[in-house]
Amino acid sequence: MTLQLEKVKWLKDYELGDPRLDGDHRRLVGVVNLVVKSLNESRMTESLALMRQFLEMARAHFAAEEALMHERKFANIERHKQYHQRLLDSAERIEKACEFVRDEEYVREAFVDFVYCLLDDVIQGDKELLPLLKGEQA
Ligand SMILES: [Fe+2]
Ligand SMILES: [Fe+2]
Repeated sequence: MTLQLEKVKWLKDYELGDPRLDGDHRRLVGVVNLVVKSLNESRMTESLALMRQFLEMARAHFAAEEALMHERKFANIERHKQYHQRLLDSAERIEKACEFVRDEEYVREAFVDFVYCLLDDVIQGDKELLPLLKGEQA
């Protein structure tokens, strides 16, 4: 029997204190968990569709986050934008490979890296926005 994938738990620590960004982050985690469920139930077509949905949501989220950084004149905006782009590039590469291979085990393994690429923003990358969101300049 294949190992079941674990759902991602939302931690209080992930909260930035901005309702828009936190809402997006929560929804991203929500879709990840739908993919986990779908993969655990071996629904391949649905899993791939949800991965594409996750990618689209992440793209929209990054754009909204960048608009906010721009509006609030975040000093490290260019670096953070490049970071988003790198995450999207890797996730897109993984998603395309999954579409192409369509092998259950391959997709399950690739999914772990896919999730890591995009959740990195939630868990790690956006921590640098905290002073900005609190009204201090970073
Ligand atoms: Fe973010
Ligand atoms: Fe970010």
